[in-house]
Amino acid sequence: MSCVDVQLADSEATRAWGARLAACCGPGLLVFLSGELGAGKTTLVRGLLRALGHTGAVKSPTYTLIESYQPGDFPVHHLDLYRLADAEELEWLGYRDLLTPDALCLIEWPQHGAGILPSADLHLTLWHQPEGRRLRIEGSTEKARAVLRRLQKHY
Ligand SMILES: Nc1ncnc2c1ncn2[C@@H]1O[C@H](COP(=O)(O)OP(=O)(O)OP(=O)(O)O)[C@@H](O)[C@H]1O
Ligand SMILES: [Mg+2]
Repeated sequence: MSCVDVQLADSEATRAWGARLAACCGPGLLVFLSGELGAGKTTLVRGLLRALGHTGAVKSPTYTLIESYQPGDFPVHHLDLYRLADAEELEWLGYRDLLTPDALCLIEWPQHGAGILPSADLHLTLWHQPEGRRLRIEGSTEKARAVLRRLQKHY
């Protein structure tokens, strides 16, 4: 399976797919989340973090740019680069310390870090639909293929 393409009827469905991803992802994975403002990127990350065991709030990193969590055995970093004025800012934000083999890293608005960010393993894209959203999950690295295989096996 090279990609997953699903309809998400409501926010709960978006969170549920976040939870499915949580069951199939692990440390060392770099995930880009693309889609227009309000497409559901943060909602999906909320579902993922909850499923990994995080019980507190998950606030959008719109202003802080980075929110880090330790929901279970490995750290999860959630970035939102929408307000990044220049990709170079990533350097002084210390992004290199986040993209480590022991952490799962999820980045909204990754195009604002183009030229600095390495390429992602997994690409998640969300689209507004007349009702709900559409989600596509794709990736061609070995790690991404493993995630897609696990998704296919379990869902
Ligand atoms: N499948 C869905 N159907 C309808 N509404 C949804 C769906 N998924 C999420 N939403 C709603 O869309 C709104 C925006 O979601 P969210 O904040 O996750 O978007 P975002 O992509 O992170 O936006 P931004 O680019 O501004 O960070 C929220 O009110 C959320 O509940
Ligand atoms: Mg968001």
